[in-house]
Amino acid sequence: MQHIRQVVDSEFNSVNDFIVEQLHSRVALVENIGHYIIDAGGKRLRPLLSLLSAGALGKIDHDHIRLAAVIEFIHTATLLHDDVVDLSALRRGRPTANAEFGNAPSVLVGDFLYSRAFQVLVSIGNMPLMALLSDTTNTVAEGEVLQLARAGNPDTDEDTYFNVIRSKTAVLFAAACSGAALLSEQSSQQQALYDYGLNLGIAFQLIDDILDYEGDPTETGKNVGDDLAEGKPTLPLIFILQNGSATQKQQVQRAISEKSADELDSIVAAVKQSGALDYCRDAAQKYSQAAIHALQSLPPSAHKDALSKLCELALQRKS
Ligand code: IPE
Ligand code: IPE
Ligand code: MG
Ligand code: MG
Repeated sequence: MQHIRQVVDSEFNSVNDFIVEQLHSRVALVENIGHYIIDAGGKRLRPLLSLLSAGALGKIDHDHIRLAAVIEFIHTATLLHDDVVDLSALRRGRPTANAEFGNAPSVLVGDFLYSRAFQVLVSIGNMPLMALLSDTTNTVAEGEVLQLARAGNPDTDEDTYFNVIRSKTAVLFAAACSGAALLSEQSSQQQALYDYGLNLGIAFQLIDDILDYEGDPTETGKNVGDDLAEGKPTLPLIFILQNGSATQKQQVQRAISEKSADELDSIVAAVKQSGALDYCRDAAQKYSQAAIHALQSLPPSAHKDALSKLCELALQRKS
């Protein structure tokens, strides 16, 4: 990851500076919570995607820096809201903002970050980009609501699962990449970068859903079992419901319906023994390959290589 960042080192630093600059508010609590989550870091993967996409098309200019910050603000806003909805207690190795400050301030500061993102977007002044990002944000919200509507429902099928992760996660990856092409006025590469981002985003969320069962909190910075506690029918559980032993199926059905992590240890064991993880990893690999394939028409460059390498890292990631 460090190696990949170096490809756009100075621009990456500019994005981070711009993010901090744009956190400014007249209200102290907004800045406190904004800094609380932003200063904790995070991988800044989405801004990296915007910068590398721009670089792969020839030039990274100031509007790309601003786009990268917009995308990270939208992402951070969704995290603040998501942790309230998911009742999560740990994020980026720290207590979540909702655990530290409460639900109401987290939701409101999430709103602040969303609206700040759109203020910056207006300052870029590109109407097609505004259309892309308003559609994207709307789809992310729909994805989170669809997921909420399916929580506690063990009858959720794979199609619905992929619909959820495409909406809540992958479209923002796609916008980070294709938005850069839009600003570069390279409409011929816009679709290729959209497809790259969408497939990578799906692979990324598949791995995230695996890490919710087998991750190490000291590496992910998040607790294990949050998905189970929310009764989320993610792919590891859908696999068990279709292919597990009768006992495993019953156990998973109960946990999802009751939104309970009481039997977490034994469900983690089932996820590991049933072949569910291999099944999910194979799926992630397929999407990661599709992402690499989408880059085909881009001219050779260090940036393109880095985009390709990110697809491999997304599969191996532990954090
Ligand atoms: C977390 O995203 C939310 C998902 C889409 C899985 P990241 O894993 O990119 O979170 P940070 O920004 O690095 O903390
Ligand atoms: C991704 O889903 C959330 C968003 C896209 C907002 P998760 O709920 O799995 O993300 P984490 O695990 O809390 O980071
Ligand atoms: Mg969550
Ligand atoms: Mg997760």
